[in-house]
Order: sequence, then C-alpha cells, then structure tokens
Amino acid sequence: MRKNIVAGNWKMNTTVPEGLELAKEVNAAVAAATPKCDVIICVPFTHLVPVAQAIDTNKLGLGAENCADHAKGAYTGEVSASMVASTGAGYVILGHSERRQYYGETSETLREKVALALQNNLKPIFCIGEVLEERENGTYNDVVRKQVEEGLFNLSAEEFGNIVLAYEPVWAIGTGKTATAEQAEDMHAFIRSVIAEKYGKEVADNTSILYGGSCKPSNAAELFAKPDVDGGLIGGASLKCEDFMGIVSAF
Ligand code: 13P
Repeated sequence: MRKNIVAGNWKMNTTVPEGLELAKEVNAAVAAATPKCDVIICVPFTHLVPVAQAIDTNKLGLGAENCADHAKGAYTGEVSASMVASTGAGYVILGHSERRQYYGETSETLREKVALALQNNLKPIFCIGEVLEERENGTYNDVVRKQVEEGLFNLSAEEFGNIVLAYEPVWAIGTGKTATAEQAEDMHAFIRSVIAEKYGKEVADNTSILYGGSCKPSNAAELFAKPDVDGGLIGGASLKCEDFMGIVSAF
C-alpha cells in the first residue's frame, strides 16, 4: 500500500550553515519522534553534501529541488541527476510550479528530467496544479490531467511505481490560502482515477499523492485525514523545525 509522506521544500532559503543547523534539528526531532510517515527534506543543491553527511538518510529522506534535463556535458550552471544522486540524496522535486512559471519548464523537458532521475535511482516528487484562473473557470481537472499525462504517461507501470505526485494548486502556494480538505480530496481522487485509467487500480492505489500549498500544523490533520491525501509538500512551514514537525505529527 502507498506510503504517507511529509516532505519539506526549502526553496531558495537558508545559507549553508543555517540549512545545516535546520537539517540537524529536524534529524534529531525525527529520531526522537518515530513518525507515522516518511519524512523528507528537499534542499538547495549547495546544501546536499553537508546535509547528507549530517543526517541519518535512512530515517530522514533527502532530496534536491530540481535537476538538469541532460545527463552531462556543456550545460553551464546545471546540476545533473547523477550529481544529485552522488551526494546521497534519494529524491528530487520536479516540475514545481515555480520552475514551470519562472524558468519555462515544459512537459517535454520534464519528461527528460524524470527519465534521468529514475535512471539514477532518484524518486521524483512530481508537482502538478492549476493557477487561480483555471480554478475559477472550472478547467482545473483538465489542466492537471494534461500535466500528469504529458509529464509521466510515457513511463512503464514499473517506472511509474517510483513516482510521488504532489498536487499544489498555484493559488494556494505561499498565499496563506489553503485548498479546503474537500477541494484537495476531490482533486487527489481525480488524479488517482487518471492514473488508474492508464496503469490500473493497483498502481493508482500504490501511488502517494501529496498536497502542497499553505499547509501548516493547524490544517494538516484535516487535509491528511482525507483518504486520497497521502501527506504534504511543505514550503514555508518546513523552514521551522517546530512547524514542520507539527505537520509530521498530524499523522
Ligand atoms: P507553501 O507551503 O509555502 O505554500 O509552499 C508550498 C510549496 O510550493 C511546496 O512545494
């Protein structure tokens, strides 16, 4: 059966010393708490090596926030999936709305990134979600279906088994405006049905689908109580150990 997961996305926050301190704090809290879900932190590239050395990655998963769409070579400034894997990280966030919106990521580049991540034994945390206009004009299911189909449905069922999905309505990210638990559940159930159409019910039932967007200790329990919400991808609240662990303990 699918796993419950709480993953932090630190985005472009913290210096290396600050991040190292936060990672150590979370590592100690996870060791002390024996959480009822997998806990992962996704950190800036610069932080991966020192954080991997400072935490117990068997108990606290480590991920990057992106990787390149090429395997290696003359791509100045890029960081490849094999480089990420060589740090000790086991996950990579791909297709975050901030990357789609500000860095022009398309389904085409994302298919390359997903393939490279999988080749390097990284589990992609693949983000999807509609913008406010699409929520308001009622096209949100179509938008999310297209993101899932275009980004992932070239994978075999076996490959798809390594994907974690994160539904992040763009209008809820960093806005303080959370989707209601009902809105999240409706979308998560819809996403699961789209996966079932393609790969069958077993694969769909085994896929973890996380919710992201202004998730915090005060609303996590209500969201996670929904049958198709398998955890959260946490931005702002992952930058404070107490808040992050407050969300982890919602399970
Ligand atoms: P916030 O939790 O800050 O809204 O960010 C959500 C997010 O984008 C996680 O990837």
